[in-house]
Amino acid sequence: MRWDHIIRNGEIVTPSATYTANIYIKDGKIAAINEEELNGDAKEITDASGLHILPGLIDTHVHSRDGGATYKEDFYHSTQAAAAGGITTIFEMPNTNPTINTVENFKKQVNNLQSKAHVNFGIWGICLGDLNNKDLLPLTEAGVIGFKYFWGYAVNKNTFQLVYNYSEDMVDVIAPCDDGQVFEMFEEVAKTGRSFGIHAENSDLINHLTKQLEQKDADDYNAFLASRPNLAEELTIQTGIAMAKQTGARLHILHVSTAEGVKLIREAQQEGYPITAETCPHYLFLTNEDYREIGPVMKVYPLVKFKKDQEAIWEGINDGTISFVCSDHAPHTSEEKDGDLWTIPAGMCGVETLAPLMLNAVSEGKITLQQLVALLSENPAKQFDVYPQKGTIQVGSDADITIVNLNKRHVIKTEDLHSKSKITAYDGFEITGMPVQTIVNGTTVMKNGDIIFKPLGELVTPK
Ligand code: NCD
Ligand code: ZN
Ligand code: ZN
Repeated sequence: MRWDHIIRNGEIVTPSATYTANIYIKDGKIAAINEEELNGDAKEITDASGLHILPGLIDTHVHSRDGGATYKEDFYHSTQAAAAGGITTIFEMPNTNPTINTVENFKKQVNNLQSKAHVNFGIWGICLGDLNNKDLLPLTEAGVIGFKYFWGYAVNKNTFQLVYNYSEDMVDVIAPCDDGQVFEMFEEVAKTGRSFGIHAENSDLINHLTKQLEQKDADDYNAFLASRPNLAEELTIQTGIAMAKQTGARLHILHVSTAEGVKLIREAQQEGYPITAETCPHYLFLTNEDYREIGPVMKVYPLVKFKKDQEAIWEGINDGTISFVCSDHAPHTSEEKDGDLWTIPAGMCGVETLAPLMLNAVSEGKITLQQLVALLSENPAKQFDVYPQKGTIQVGSDADITIVNLNKRHVIKTEDLHSKSKITAYDGFEITGMPVQTIVNGTTVMKNGDIIFKPLGELVTPK
């Protein structure tokens, strides 16, 4: 037998087991897993002695800005950043230009991304209410990974781009959906059976408070937080859960940032509704207190909240209320991020630091390595119906593998990031535990931090 790749002597980690074995890869799939050596040679051989082998890590929430604002980031760079950070699959968010509102734009996006993909990729569709309810089933057929609704956002009449800081006197703008239109959207998306991710911030409340507070304390994070309070997330999650109960939509709460959010989601789950949730490293490792040190780069929507929220989110991780962690990778240029807290854009890089930060949490005893595998691989794969193609190390699964060294020390540095715009809140963070090899479809694309292979990623669609 001539294998494509043999990975020897690594300790394989799944959510339920840890064992030492050799992995044999053929034609992009895991062909055998065996404690004893099998016969045959291979094009590539990896000695993983002393290292841990995880099913390829998945980042379900990435804004690569491609097409559209490619001066900030593009798919070539974001997928290099992903590979450098041990991620083998990313799901690309739909607020691109064109936005992913129709099958035509979905197909264009597949073509656009394919040749730049250093890792595998899925594509989210967008929900725009009346503007594209009729497109949701065709988009599902075409293979979107899920649907995102930016709740409360207006869109441009011609381009369907999201409008930030909406006011009623704007021209060429379609006002945010009212609750009736949102309810119909829930009914339509329920028919697709796909995960329905919502950006949960109540824009009426935020606009109202912003008008009251904006002129005060221009660079005071807590004043800004008062304009986008916990209540904004709580209200939208509450409405979303009520609509999901009524319609059967498979509601997924994106980037949960509050204790109130975690509580509502937990209660709905306890009542037996299939509501799911994700959170991001910034809600796990930062609080409002960090603004003094880190400054405007840590502005992200929803805002990073308080210590009590951070603690509740960790509880949500540990009791399973929150089923996975993703980056919300949303780069802007350093010039754009350098300005008044109230007006600079929200978002920062994250795809490259997601796994290192979570591995560091393992080294600090916050979670186990097996939990990390659930949070970054198995659970997202199951959520988006790509398991067991992804999210596991089994014979027949795709050969997407992340090899980590739990003892490796690393300092995150802004200038080392692979993204086009290098914006991170974690500059200077000291990490113990790093991804040292990223294997995509059987081929090593990253080794010891270096990208060593051309784009080979493939589109991932739900089964
Ligand atoms: C995201 C972006 O910039 O695209 N920004 C952010 O702060 N999270 C949008 C989003 O995910 O809501
Ligand atoms: Zn969002
Ligand atoms: Zn996002």
